[in-house]
Amino acid sequence: MTTTLFTPYKSNKLTLNNRIVMAPMTRQFSPNGIPTSDVAGYYERRAKGGTGLIITEGTTVDDKVATMDANIPQFHGEQALAGWKEVVNRVHAEDGKIMPQLWHVGMARVAQKAPFPDLPSAGPSGLFKPGKQCADPMSTKHIESVIDAFAKAASDAHCIGMDGVEIHGAHGYLIDQFFWEGTNQRTDSWGGSMENRGRFAVEIIKAIRAATSPDFPIVLRYSQWKQQDYTARLANSPQELEQFLTPLSDAGVDIFHCSQRRYWESEFDGSTLNLAGWTKKITGKSTITVGSVGLNDDFFGAFKGQGSSTRSVDDLLERLNDGEFDLVAVGRALLQDPNWANKIKDNRTDELEQYSGKALATLS
Ligand SMILES: Cc1cc2nc3c(=O)[nH]c(=O)nc-3n(C[C@H](O)[C@H](O)[C@H](O)COP(=O)(O)O)c2cc1C
Repeated sequence: MTTTLFTPYKSNKLTLNNRIVMAPMTRQFSPNGIPTSDVAGYYERRAKGGTGLIITEGTTVDDKVATMDANIPQFHGEQALAGWKEVVNRVHAEDGKIMPQLWHVGMARVAQKAPFPDLPSAGPSGLFKPGKQCADPMSTKHIESVIDAFAKAASDAHCIGMDGVEIHGAHGYLIDQFFWEGTNQRTDSWGGSMENRGRFAVEIIKAIRAATSPDFPIVLRYSQWKQQDYTARLANSPQELEQFLTPLSDAGVDIFHCSQRRYWESEFDGSTLNLAGWTKKITGKSTITVGSVGLNDDFFGAFKGQGSSTRSVDDLLERLNDGEFDLVAVGRALLQDPNWANKIKDNRTDELEQYSGKALATLS
């Protein structure tokens, strides 16, 4: 049953030992934004434990208001990049692959609690959510400088040997704030139609491609749900999803990472396909599914210290075997247990651990 999960993934740009991806998970263990040797050890253990591809925790691009906490790692500056270089080397030494998740938190930043508290947070319309205005809309100049910052971060990732980059376009952070009508009420070319709302991401993808190389993998993570509204949707039908995805795919995304709370939930009525299934069908690109793999309860409880019991992955394997998606991202189960992949491979299901929510700060 697990054979497909442990079949190498091969595209013209990327080869992975298996189909298991570590989902990006913020940790805030990088003092002043600099990833330490501990961070390298944390990822090294997951590579050693058999994870095919690691997507790092969100790491911020070079914009003063990209971060919401001084201990979130940054992806700019000599010291931080030296820290990331050590991470890359140690993951590669374990025969793993790794990509940074490039992040700008946008209006999710609470100015008073973040570095540069005097600066207002940035968002397409200055809205954290519909009706909650916290700043002025971003200027065109600021939008353009953030696009450049993503491109520079990707270029640095390329230079230090990362195996690609993931753009964080999900969960109601800056890029998603452009995607979502609820937070993007601009009337210029960055807002209005679906195409205009997608333009910020399209320009980032094109700039990353231009700053790296034609064969450098670009992953885009997106979600229907937002931290501001779990029921929000970018697309209500396959047709709308196609309208949303096509420009992004054409701009040069290689792999779409489709964030759901539970992978077994179908996206639209009349089909069992999940978000990754529809995305693959529409774009023809590879997709990553995610959401409660190996666990019963979704991850929202994790931030309140809630754990989750284990769940069989048999239905997941059926979908993978059917070719619904290509890769499977695992979050909390891998946070809990660096050896999760090897245990699944060796069928050591009795050794799989429950996710103990209390451990967020202590799991290493
Ligand atoms: C502690 C924690 C931190 C997270 N941080 C990020 C993040 O930085 N970027 C992101 O895209 N998703 C983040 N997520 C969401 C995960 O990537 C993943 O989509 C989610 O946990 C569902 O997968 P799971 O059910 O296997 O845990 C985080 C989740 C957790 C539990």
